[in-house]
Amino acid sequence: MTSAKLRKIFIDFFEKRNHTKHAPSSLVPLDDPSVLFTTAGMQQFKQFYTNPDKSKSKRLVTIQPCFRTSDIDEVGDDTHLTFFEMLGNFSFGYTEANRSKSKEKNQENTSYFKEDAIQWAWDFVTSTQGLGIDPARIEVSVFRGEKNIPLDDESIRIWRKIGVPNEKIKLGTREDNFWGPTGLEGPCGPTTELYVDGIEIWNLVFNEYYQDADGNLIPAQYKGVDTGMGLERLLAVLNGKKTVFETELYFDLIEKLRPLGLAKEKERIIADHVKGIIFLINENLEPGNLGREYILRRLLRRVMIIEGVYAQLLALCNLVFEMYQTQYRFNPGVQERLTSILEREWIQFSKTLEKGKVYISKLNTTRLSGEEAFRIYSTYGIPIDAQKDLLGDATVVDSAGFEREYLASFEAHRSVSRAGVAQKFGGHGLITKGGEISSDLSPQEYEKALRNHTATHLLHAALRAVLGEYVQQKGSDVAPERLRFDFTYERALTEEEKKRVEAWVNARIKEDVPVNFTQMDKGDALRSGALAFFPERYPQKCKVYTIGDQGHQISQELCGGPHVTHTSEIGHFAITSEKSSSAGVRRIKAVTSNQY
Ligand code: SER
Repeated sequence: MTSAKLRKIFIDFFEKRNHTKHAPSSLVPLDDPSVLFTTAGMQQFKQFYTNPDKSKSKRLVTIQPCFRTSDIDEVGDDTHLTFFEMLGNFSFGYTEANRSKSKEKNQENTSYFKEDAIQWAWDFVTSTQGLGIDPARIEVSVFRGEKNIPLDDESIRIWRKIGVPNEKIKLGTREDNFWGPTGLEGPCGPTTELYVDGIEIWNLVFNEYYQDADGNLIPAQYKGVDTGMGLERLLAVLNGKKTVFETELYFDLIEKLRPLGLAKEKERIIADHVKGIIFLINENLEPGNLGREYILRRLLRRVMIIEGVYAQLLALCNLVFEMYQTQYRFNPGVQERLTSILEREWIQFSKTLEKGKVYISKLNTTRLSGEEAFRIYSTYGIPIDAQKDLLGDATVVDSAGFEREYLASFEAHRSVSRAGVAQKFGGHGLITKGGEISSDLSPQEYEKALRNHTATHLLHAALRAVLGEYVQQKGSDVAPERLRFDFTYERALTEEEKKRVEAWVNARIKEDVPVNFTQMDKGDALRSGALAFFPERYPQKCKVYTIGDQGHQISQELCGGPHVTHTSEIGHFAITSEKSSSAGVRRIKAVTSNQY
């Protein structure tokens, strides 16, 4: 069995059962700021469980790339991965009242629940239309219930009806057989899992509850199905391989590493992490010290710290691109970005790495405190996993303590920047999140600030048009006398590029197109392609500013406003300086109208 064939069999099987194939979501969730990454196929459909009418199709099927940090420490053993693909089928909007209706209309796009979900899972795994696995190899598990949540006897009854013998139906605890929610709140419920030769391959979740932010389980008005089957693990099982690393999805990567003579565990870590690195960079992430960017840095540095690997990294990455290019559309320019990120990160890391290694080698300890581990990270840039590698198995590292220190520094950083913001906007008074402009700007200053604000959006669009779509905003500051815009780019702009950017903005000003906003649900806004600088910072209902009219849209961004109403009000735009702001980030200062 190949991965391509397996993906196809799965999709075909559920399409035959009236499921609509849905595109995977990005690895960075669009509308759930409480989670860092997409860790499951259902995440992009979270709202459909409570609001089924929001989805045209009540049955969906996907292949979703996922990224989980929860297992990062375990990568290297036979089964754990950070990056993987999940095959899943989903249903929304099921109620007891529409149960018989859905049975009658099984040919149509109606919702389903346990009976169909379990029967189809069984058919997919055992029939020749699906995987054709001998039923004798299969066991299942069902939620055994606990205080306030009943035993899932309906699933037991369905498995028995199918013919699974009692001794092959195991009862599991809440930890093993209850799933969700992702993030702070959301749909969740009991699960039933399928095992082949003792290996768990498929998790069927029955979303019967909604867990609120206080942890209360509320019976859901609509019930739903969410299933997830890890492609890599299934491929290993089907091909009689003991580990995912022996399948075609890792084989070439591991082969490429062979000449380095590394321990098996290290080869596996590299093969897993290289995929994560590419898929995260494809999300426009850059390595950094906070949140998602920190995770990307962890992956990069863990791999780079292994002797001899840096020289091989690009070749390994190219193998990954080849492996996935028919399945996923990578962003244009991602290979160039990757090359320069690897180089930059390595230059930065190698500055402190040797000193850090010497420091760690002298530690001579069997236990490293979280405080010390964090100090090593902030001094030498060596992330926690790489520290563990350097220290070896004989030393226990207090990861939880590290995490606490890290979060504390994060909080400190946040309050510093909050204080900075308050100082800047409080004293000076300018454009705030809600779109109010504080009264201590004179009307003339206010007008100038408006012009500069709209010009900032035009500049952003111009940079993407001239330099490429992967230019990403990193910061901006609007004042009456000038605007400042930070963005990711690898090198200084040429004189010609600066001229083209200016000309592009001035052409849009001349066109005198309108500037409008609409209030939108954040998820819808992001899905429609509106740009957002740190999407998690915007409220669920937010404003989207559009420059241009129907058929000639120049820019669409999530933004609190306010703006001019027509671009001609800006007058004229000129770049006054362009220079490096930090590694990989450029800063443009510009003025508008007659400020120059
Ligand atoms: N959400 C469940 C999981 O991730 C099933 O898709 O396992």
